[in-house]
Amino acid sequence: MTQRVLLIVSGGIAAYKSLELVRLLRKRGIAVRAVLTQSAAQFVTPLSLGVLTEDQVYEDLFDLKAEREIGHIQLSRQADLVVVAPATANILARMANGIADDLATTLLLATDKPVLAVPAMNVRMWHHKATQRNLHQLRADGVHVMEPDDGAMACGEFGKGRLPEPEAIATEIARLLALPLPVDMLSDQPDFAGDARPLAGRHILITAGPTQEPIDPVRYIANRSSGKQGFAIAAAAARAGARVTLVAGPVHLLTPAGVDRVDVETARQMLAAVESALPADAAIMVAAVADWRTADAADQKLKKDGSGQPAPLTLVENPDILATLGHHPQRPALLIGFAAETQQIADHARAKLARKGADWIVANDVSGDVMGGDANSVQIVTTAGIETWPTLPKGEVADKLIEKVANALSSRPD
Ligand code: CTP
Repeated sequence: MTQRVLLIVSGGIAAYKSLELVRLLRKRGIAVRAVLTQSAAQFVTPLSLGVLTEDQVYEDLFDLKAEREIGHIQLSRQADLVVVAPATANILARMANGIADDLATTLLLATDKPVLAVPAMNVRMWHHKATQRNLHQLRADGVHVMEPDDGAMACGEFGKGRLPEPEAIATEIARLLALPLPVDMLSDQPDFAGDARPLAGRHILITAGPTQEPIDPVRYIANRSSGKQGFAIAAAAARAGARVTLVAGPVHLLTPAGVDRVDVETARQMLAAVESALPADAAIMVAAVADWRTADAADQKLKKDGSGQPAPLTLVENPDILATLGHHPQRPALLIGFAAETQQIADHARAKLARKGADWIVANDVSGDVMGGDANSVQIVTTAGIETWPTLPKGEVADKLIEKVANALSSRPD
């Protein structure tokens, strides 16, 4: 079935790139219906968007003809995914606050479909506290937000805020729609040796996201993991034909197509879900499990007692899920851990490999903005040596890793 994107183009100098984005999406067989904000129409014409989408371009909430024929509620729900690209600081602010004062923002408020925002703006506007606050709110509301690129800006300044390349946006859209990459993009992608479903018949177990360890009924210990990398790996494994169990901590992400998802909160729940999903051919432990939990989570909300002294928190170590699997009677044939490191990456990863009884450690350089970002720089550390991969979008890291898993499993007996 054709997948459909509702593309909202807001007004910025990068708006012209929406034309190339539409072309790339159409090339992948995705239908696009475009909505232009009033200011976007200063940068791209409805005519050029209409030609490329081969559809009517919508601009005005009070276009009664369209309202009679289709209605804004219907328009907002006929798509599988709503994409705002470029998303200006202004439209992000309106989205974050639920303001519906034109057709674009009315559709965004009315939709029940996942939304991807692709911000583009001046570097200072990007870093402004108000914009960052709005982005934080949007992410908390479940909106997917792509990180802008770094570089020279149309206004002469330099920094973060450039619209990502249309190819990268198209790839992210395809990933959210859980579409396989088109054949012409697979050239430097995993070579499945002619087998499009190299993991058919295999069970792959994946953990992703953070864990939340309760302090009392309203507070918890957690970390900044977004779950994006683990979810991308689950999607890639499902595309490769595997039965996939994804044990996920609390994240704002859609379940990829064909994936069995088990939602958990704490490390102990995650361990229990992982053990009950065994046996598996391979386990990929991507979750950022909290190392500690409170010794006793309080049943009632902790109150200040007036003494000025904080409530004492006693922490105890959580079970190590990866290490438990590494020494488990039902240990998967291939066991892969992730290691978030900021320094001496390979050395720490090698030590972790031995300590946790894993076959590979995917060492993640988290000195940049990997947590929550869309790209990842990894090294694959095995007893045989170290492979260094270039910085890649998380979706491509996932595809490459799944290719490597498929190759490793195919050289092992069932
Ligand atoms: N992991 C796990 N259970 C835990 C902690 C970590 O399964 N309680 C897994 C993670 O999913 C990841 C790997 O172990 O695959 C590495 O996690 P990391 O937190 O980097 O390892 P630690 O042993 O906590 O080492 P560090 O001292 O670097 O924190």
